[in-house]
Amino acid sequence: MTENANIINAPEKAEAKKRIFSGVQPSGILTLGNYLGAIKNWVTLQDDYECLYCVVDLHAITVRQVPADLRRHTQEALALYIACGIDPEQSCVFVQSHVPAHAELSWVLNCNTMFGELSRMTQFKDKSQKHSDNVNAGLFTYPVLMASDILLYQTDLVPVGIDQKQHVELTRDVAQRFNGVYGDTFKIPEPYFVKTGMKINSLTDPTKKMSKSDPNPKSYVAIIETRDETIKKIKSAVTDSEACVKYAEGKDGINNLMSIYSSFTGKSFDEIEKEFEGKGYGDFKMAVGEVCADGLGPIREEYARLVKDKAYLEDVMKKGSDTASYLARKTLSKVYRKVGFYSVK
Ligand code: TYM
Repeated sequence: MTENANIINAPEKAEAKKRIFSGVQPSGILTLGNYLGAIKNWVTLQDDYECLYCVVDLHAITVRQVPADLRRHTQEALALYIACGIDPEQSCVFVQSHVPAHAELSWVLNCNTMFGELSRMTQFKDKSQKHSDNVNAGLFTYPVLMASDILLYQTDLVPVGIDQKQHVELTRDVAQRFNGVYGDTFKIPEPYFVKTGMKINSLTDPTKKMSKSDPNPKSYVAIIETRDETIKKIKSAVTDSEACVKYAEGKDGINNLMSIYSSFTGKSFDEIEKEFEGKGYGDFKMAVGEVCADGLGPIREEYARLVKDKAYLEDVMKKGSDTASYLARKTLSKVYRKVGFYSVK
């Protein structure tokens, strides 16, 4: 399978360059889920699209963060984007809070999004249960900030994991509503998923999404952890007792490991089943652990080099926010004019 064959709805190359926007919250150490569901895919899209990749720190404070950790995680996330293969000379890489237009558009879109729509967001329901001591207004209006991120750049495609589908759908609804009331303003974006990898599950509870905010580090593979840690975690991943490598309903642990193996090797589930016919879960887990550690190894090495180079990372942030601010201002002025804000020349 080629990289592009793993992308649902990949348009023909001959089309004019479309614009892509995506981001990751710097709310912890980035995981294999973030890599396979999003960043790996971003890398392959760079040649064919005009890409903006953002570290979305404004989103991260919807859950209480330790300020020094947030600052460090922001720099680390940016270094990791580059270590994964995002080229800042080719794609615009920036930090969300460096471009005030995100927060500014968010206010306008808040006034065009319905309470009922936001109440239906499953991530809000999940997060408000998990953080019941801090169900703040930002957690509730989070999808509007995400819509602002996307709509500010007249984005065509939004490459994300499946957990973000509902938020991209809301973005489309809000954009359509705004365009209906004020006239054509926003491009209507499409979500963009990979076939395998769009949902990588927890290694300790494979019915749930792998998450960087999971308090149990055995539940996730961190992109930058050591080779031994990765192999050890995958070896102890929860599976069933059937000892048959087969993709089937109810075999969440094996299905998850097959998705990980497929994402790294490009092999289909049929090919994987054949490869491990007659072999036990021990052999399979070892193979998954190894392809995973081999795939992440070069990223880890590049990351270790980059993360020390603060001057370079800050230069990338500055250049990225200049480019992003220029594009964002164009949309924001249009929006301000459309809604009737008074402007003085
Ligand atoms: P976040 O930070 O939770 O995750 C970043 C990206 O990684 C994907 N992802 C996964 N994919 C597969 N399996 C998993 N276990 C997994 N965990 C995470 C997510 O789907 C996402 O693509 N709201 C977003 C960030 C955001 C954004 C945006 C994304 C803010 N504004 C605008 C796109 C466009 C979020 O919380 O992602």
